[in-house]
Amino acid sequence: MSYTGVKSAIPGPKSKKLLTEWHKYEADVTGYQAQIVWEKGEGCIVTDVDGNKFIDWTSGVLVTNVGHCHPKMIEAVQDSVTKLINNYESPTEYRVKAAKALMNVMPEHFGKCFFLSTGSEATEAALRLMKRRTGKYEIISFESGFHGRTTGSAAVGGMAGPKKGYGPSLPGSIRAAYPNPYRDTFGFCEDGPKFKKYFAYLEALISANSTGSLAGIIVEPYQGAGGFIFPPQGWLKRLEEWAHANKLPVTLDEVQSLYGRTGKMFAMEHDKLKPDIVTLGKAIGCGIPVSAVVATDDVFSCLGKGELSSTLGGNPVSSSVVPVILDIMKEEKLVENAAKIGAYMKEKLLKIAAKNKYLGDVRGKGLVMGLEFVKDKKTKEPAKELIRPFIDACAENGLLVGSVGVYGNVIRVAPPLVITKAIADESLVCMEKALKKLSL
Ligand SMILES: Cc1ncc(COP(=O)(O)O)c(C=O)c1O
Repeated sequence: MSYTGVKSAIPGPKSKKLLTEWHKYEADVTGYQAQIVWEKGEGCIVTDVDGNKFIDWTSGVLVTNVGHCHPKMIEAVQDSVTKLINNYESPTEYRVKAAKALMNVMPEHFGKCFFLSTGSEATEAALRLMKRRTGKYEIISFESGFHGRTTGSAAVGGMAGPKKGYGPSLPGSIRAAYPNPYRDTFGFCEDGPKFKKYFAYLEALISANSTGSLAGIIVEPYQGAGGFIFPPQGWLKRLEEWAHANKLPVTLDEVQSLYGRTGKMFAMEHDKLKPDIVTLGKAIGCGIPVSAVVATDDVFSCLGKGELSSTLGGNPVSSSVVPVILDIMKEEKLVENAAKIGAYMKEKLLKIAAKNKYLGDVRGKGLVMGLEFVKDKKTKEPAKELIRPFIDACAENGLLVGSVGVYGNVIRVAPPLVITKAIADESLVCMEKALKKLSL
């Protein structure tokens, strides 16, 4: 049995027509994706308007952890939309259930959550909480980090893209290097678990840049948009210890790393982190727009009535899926599946990479892996030129992939967590066929 089926050249005739029409009316400002028009999705399989079938390695953009169009999610949405689509700043049964279910899976030291709509909105809320709690305004964040596209969230981001051409970004952002094991130019990944060289650098950076108004740190457990960069084991724990020793609250941005993606329910579990604030997005709604900021009671105590709100945050439809997704995760053992199939795929991908001259690095945990393309494995010069042809070749072979990275040269391996071994195997065959077509 085959899960994929591509009948004609990509894009097929219907996709081609719709893509042209789309660009006629909506600004063509998004990143490059496979040249198809999605019609429906089920689990890990996407069908386009031409009837072509693909295995999805994107999950949207790490969103659909429980798979596309899970029947229980559909039921929850159908139930809520028929009763109430919107209300504001007052609870519904859905919202209360959602908050309770979410707090039940959060590590015990957290006190409360608050629902918003997007990851960027959650970042903004976390920044506000850190500033209000400390009464200060400088935020330490990281080069090649990504926390969203709004002004505040982009200011703490470490990628030029979301800021380019918009003038100076918010003052008070102090960006430090994020240790990258594949490109460890300054030896920052060395001497764990103390990471003496890194923390000596961080201290020097802070004393040169801070005016004494530090309000906190925001960090991703692995850098997503920056290129699926996983810091060395123990560095996040050491960073958290350093922050707490300096009385700085820590926000862990789990907008994309949550809900089993890394093979644990939350990425913070790998290093037994105890951040003061955590931001959640993407898979907490699996496609229905919902995000949340979760914090300790001590942190939330700095805000009073009317000081955090959102037009659509906590609406009945978004709230209705939150507990259902958590039930699906548990019933279908998706965290365990991500760990198991992720390890299986990584082993195979490492073997494929060893035989290929452009695949410089395969890294990741669970079902979030990055494939870094380089021109030469010794010089590690980024091979961004290969990315579009690779995305196209994958689609022609029945596989949907997307790209990330400060150099734009990393392919995401992030299928829905419902992926089976048989689908994983077929997807790897599709990927290898695409890989063979690449040349510089
Ligand atoms: C780690 C992280 N934080 C925040 C965001 C922003 O989320 P949104 O696009 O929902 O605003 C993203 C989006 O990719 C992300 O990956």
